[in-house]
Amino acid sequence: MPTPLDRRRFLARSAASAAALLAARGGLAQATPEGPAAPASPPPSPASGAPRVVRLGQNENPWGPSDAAKRAAVEAVSSGNRYVWGVAELEKKLAVLEGLSPDQVVLGSGSHALLCMAAAAWGASGAEVVTADPTYPGLPLYAEAIGGRVVRVPLDGSFRTDLAAMEARVGPATRLVYVCNPANPTGTVVEPAALRAFCERVSARAVVVVDEAYRDYPDAARVASLVPLVKEGARVVVTCTFSKLHALAGFRVGYAMAPPELAAALRKVRMGGAPLAVSNVAVAAASASLDDTAFLEACRRRTVAGRAALAAFLRDEGFAPPPSETNFVFVPMTSGAAELARALDAKGVRVSARDPKHGLRVTVGTEEDMARFREAFREARKAAREAAG
Ligand SMILES: Cc1ncc(COP(=O)(O)O)c(C=O)c1O
Repeated sequence: MPTPLDRRRFLARSAASAAALLAARGGLAQATPEGPAAPASPPPSPASGAPRVVRLGQNENPWGPSDAAKRAAVEAVSSGNRYVWGVAELEKKLAVLEGLSPDQVVLGSGSHALLCMAAAAWGASGAEVVTADPTYPGLPLYAEAIGGRVVRVPLDGSFRTDLAAMEARVGPATRLVYVCNPANPTGTVVEPAALRAFCERVSARAVVVVDEAYRDYPDAARVASLVPLVKEGARVVVTCTFSKLHALAGFRVGYAMAPPELAAALRKVRMGGAPLAVSNVAVAAASASLDDTAFLEACRRRTVAGRAALAAFLRDEGFAPPPSETNFVFVPMTSGAAELARALDAKGVRVSARDPKHGLRVTVGTEEDMARFREAFREARKAAREAAG
């Protein structure tokens, strides 16, 4: 049994090694003239001496968090003895940025939590939820876990959300409709005018949740946020996250925007209410990140350039990735996706094969990450061809 003294010694040793590690890495990363620095703390290696694992499976931003966010988080650590006071302030700041009133913004512990809250509010106990298939699974799986009935509507032949087919499945029992735009896992978008018209019509019959986790990546002409419909009072909820462009995935901050009565319904099911929803450190980091527009723009430019290079590589390899408006590229495959993902994993390169009957999803990483991906991808495919004879 460890004694309290053992625990204190262990904690002291851990703190000393963490400090030594930070000192060795030069502490907070310095911004470079061409943009944000490489991460100060790369993800852990699979084993000491083995090459670093290249994480391209969760659509994280490899260039962050911004130094400003890291500094704010470090400063907020000393307030860790207090319950959170900054949630309402951050909701107000977001409301100003989005042109909404503070009662139309709900902060949550990542947008996944907000999607589950929407399921809890409108998709539970026999309610019907209409969603695309495949899509980001957070909302539909949670709805099913709490007694909702999920109607899954296949994407169209171009890997895009099939709005007409979804609308046709909205019936008298439908309480909630979930649209991810830009879409995960395929990266595609639907026509802005078509989505707006869909939301106008369908929100008269059910609450429509539009997941805009990747809203920062598309060209402005190709996607339009649904926040204007929220302003007009339509029964539409838009969810956003600090996990992608802001590079704060591990901090867990997201927000929903909705007309006041829908926002109030979400707040009712927010676990722990405002003081327990998000940590002080996360609120501080997110708030600072919003102000660091140079960092955000640099990440966006790097992602768009990396995305074009990744799509070109995949085309050279004989695949036909649909045009992506996100920080990842989808690789359509009718078979072999899970095996290819496993072969890449064995080479220390992680991609997502969550929807293996449709294909693989590869996140845009640093140039070094992408070089490792290309090499591993070519080798894994060569090995598969040789094994097949
Ligand atoms: C479409 C989509 N929505 C929501 C999320 C959840 O993001 P978070 O909970 O980190 O805000 C993700 C994460 O990858 C996503 O891809």
